[in-house]
Amino acid sequence: MINDLWYKNAILYCLHVGSFMDTSGDGTGDFRGLMRRLDYLQGLGVTAIWLMPFQPSPMRDDGYDIADYYNVDPRYGTLGDFVEFTHACDQRGLRVLIDLVVNHTSDQHPWFKSARSSPDSPYRNWYVWSKSKPKDASSGVVFPGVQKSTWNYDEKAREYYFHRFYEFQPDLNTSNPEVQAEILKIMGFWMQLGVSGFRMDAVPFVIATKGPTVRKPVEQYDMLRTFAEFISWRKGSAIVLAEANVLPNTDMEYFGSEGERLQMMFNFQVNQHLFYALATTDTHPLIASLHSTSRRPATAQWGQFLRNHDELDLGRLTSQQRQACFAAFAPEKDMQLYHRGIRRRLAPMLHGDRRRLEMAYSLMLSLPGTPVIRYGDEIGMGDDLTLPERNALRTPMQWSRDPQGGFTTNPHPKNPVITGGTYGFEHINVADQRRDPNSLMNWMERMIRTRKETPEIGWGNFTIIRTPHRDVLILRYTWQDNAVLLIHNFSPDPIDLRLRSSAKPTSNRAGKRPAKQQPDLYLTNILSNDHSTADSSGRHLILLEPYGYRWFRVGSQEDRGPTLDA
Ligand code: NOJ
Repeated sequence: MINDLWYKNAILYCLHVGSFMDTSGDGTGDFRGLMRRLDYLQGLGVTAIWLMPFQPSPMRDDGYDIADYYNVDPRYGTLGDFVEFTHACDQRGLRVLIDLVVNHTSDQHPWFKSARSSPDSPYRNWYVWSKSKPKDASSGVVFPGVQKSTWNYDEKAREYYFHRFYEFQPDLNTSNPEVQAEILKIMGFWMQLGVSGFRMDAVPFVIATKGPTVRKPVEQYDMLRTFAEFISWRKGSAIVLAEANVLPNTDMEYFGSEGERLQMMFNFQVNQHLFYALATTDTHPLIASLHSTSRRPATAQWGQFLRNHDELDLGRLTSQQRQACFAAFAPEKDMQLYHRGIRRRLAPMLHGDRRRLEMAYSLMLSLPGTPVIRYGDEIGMGDDLTLPERNALRTPMQWSRDPQGGFTTNPHPKNPVITGGTYGFEHINVADQRRDPNSLMNWMERMIRTRKETPEIGWGNFTIIRTPHRDVLILRYTWQDNAVLLIHNFSPDPIDLRLRSSAKPTSNRAGKRPAKQQPDLYLTNILSNDHSTADSSGRHLILLEPYGYRWFRVGSQEDRGPTLDA
């Protein structure tokens, strides 16, 4: 079956059902609540939803510790509610992606319980064991400062088991063909219930060789092809969006040289360098990361994001660059996490500065790929640093000024709603912003619409227009004889930007054809009436305000664009 490539130009919205909307009054969000909010999401303009894990779980890692892959945690509803939900999404043309967490299970999963109970268990070889503690047990921990080791002794099994993440998340032996077959079965199950694909958790670890003698894990990339083939046989348009924070020289291994492996990956390279640029105004490392990740098969797509549900991982930056980000966005020690990241939402990181927030979102929407918006960011929600680890940025959605932000009628929600202060629900909520035409939320809705009307970004190829200003990024996309020019000023200062059109100007003196009719010399502003006509020497003078941004279509709306250079 042929994939219709819907993901090449989608708008993804990620949320946790438990933090979105509670209808049962137990203080945890549920599928029935989420269903009530689908019209809101559709109104915002998103085209696909990525749901974080909602399967039965002891919830020691916010659901990333799954105890049953074939069910819905009763806190969130039932399988019946889930199918009602996917049906309701389908009716609104919204696609659903769900998290696929198969690198590890919860230690409460019946497979692990059986595996640890006896060496003869049929599930023993589904996990990774060692009779003695491997020498490198303290290296490779993903959560330094919280997690001590990757091997723990299990009293029942009388062996050590491997866990890349927390000790309650034993790694599955993903090289075992039985485990691989089970992974396909899990995917098939949820596709049958209406999902269009998976955000696959921890992909580099899923495909890595694991075991006590493995010193340097080897990625078994061909597993990815097996996954891709299976889902496309079941449903032509299904995709895998990988969480793989890897170096650019391995990107093509993940996508496959012919696009035969993963359809999408999050672009962690661009994400980290983007925050460095926001912190310092220096766009050059960001430009380098755009170049180093530009190669991908025609059918593949990047997921571009600002913040997600985890810490902002800055582990790929140099330590100097990372320190610059900490200084700008996380000056207090308790804002930092795992020695590499920042546990904050975007709005407080940018000091709630509307100009910077708009610039950051405009930038994200203009990056090569499909934008991924985190719930609550559309209204500028904040974080709660009194909560442990990443819970700080996982507080419930703020819907209104009603008690508990309209999230629940229960006075004691499972995760506390942010109350009081700049980011409390009394100030930051959907209901108020809906009524205010100038709100961040309404701005976001307009920007999403504009992004959808600018298919060059999702489908086209980009070039970076050189400029002497290190603090300005100019992206130019071309697609089907159309071109757009997207300009962002990272600086707190205004900038006079001069752009030269490559086309020779024809006279635009009185009596002659006005330059406006010359497509090469005319830039149509997509966001306002502030269009630009080149002067007699063929230059555009664009006055960028502090943190200013411009979306131009090159030529008039219908015309073919020119080549621009600084
Ligand atoms: C990545 C997820 O994004 C994170 O939240 C989780 O803790 C780990 N994988 C383990 O599943």
